[in-house]
Amino acid sequence: MTGSDRPPRRTALVTGANRGIGLAVAEALAARGMAVLLGTRDAAAGAHAAAALSARGHAARALAIDLSRPASVDAALAQLAADAVHVDVLVNNAGVYPQGGVLSAPEEAFREAMEVHLFGPLRLCRALVPAMQRAGWGRVVNVSSGSGSFGEGLEGPAPYSISKAALDALTLKLSGVTGPAVKVNAACPGWVRTRMGGEEAPRSVERGAEGIVWLATLPDDGPSGGFFRDGRLIPW
Ligand SMILES: NC(=O)c1ccc[n+]([C@@H]2O[C@H](COP(=O)([O-])OP(=O)(O)OC[C@H]3O[C@@H](n4cnc5c(N)ncnc54)[C@H](OP(=O)(O)O)[C@@H]3O)[C@@H](O)[C@H]2O)c1
Repeated sequence: MTGSDRPPRRTALVTGANRGIGLAVAEALAARGMAVLLGTRDAAAGAHAAAALSARGHAARALAIDLSRPASVDAALAQLAADAVHVDVLVNNAGVYPQGGVLSAPEEAFREAMEVHLFGPLRLCRALVPAMQRAGWGRVVNVSSGSGSFGEGLEGPAPYSISKAALDALTLKLSGVTGPAVKVNAACPGWVRTRMGGEEAPRSVERGAEGIVWLATLPDDGPSGGFFRDGRLIPW
């Protein structure tokens, strides 16, 4: 294959990519030949992670983005526009795990969870998906949780499960308007050993990343508008 025959390198933006599942997803996508943008709220942590991936031969760059601050999301989008970066794959992975019940958790906990799990991803989708539609190809993966599934009982802290259910609703609504070229799905990574999942969790970050990477690299006849764990549909 000559240089001119080679398909263009796709670019993926993964949020919360400085550690945990997000970093594993970013590395796996880079290993598949994508250029990866590591969205991180801590610029130093992002630079460190990008340097580590670059040292392993990957095309990786950090992008400062704090999902809880709309101005930060807008600044990241402005940076992408200024650099003429087209995002082909968006992985809304960043997550928080605020504790508390529906009557006991402080309202601030709900606000933070909704900003990170709903409003930040919504802002990114509204900015980036139209360009995917114009390009005729795109993949959006919203990293959700079984805790956000009505069908699995909305277990877990109320701010977390309610905000993940909202992310699932965004997934379904968005998939209904993008057309078949832009596939939009939600993924539950299972219980994964990260700062959020804890040391007792049975899955490695690489294992947790697998189903997300699958959705981020779906073929043209792949599904859209579903909620998946390990490549299998689970109930909303
Ligand atoms: N681990 C599990 O068992 C499990 C199960 C189901 C679903 N999930 C989901 O999987 C995703 C990744 O989880 P994880 O286990 O890898 O968690 P993690 O190790 O705690 O990592 C969370 C990531 O999100 C970032 N983040 C948090 N708030 C942010 C904000 N306001 N702006 C930008 N980034 C922010 C963190 O950045 P900092 O380093 O700056 O804090 C970190 O990079 C989450 O959406 C989570 O809900 C995880």
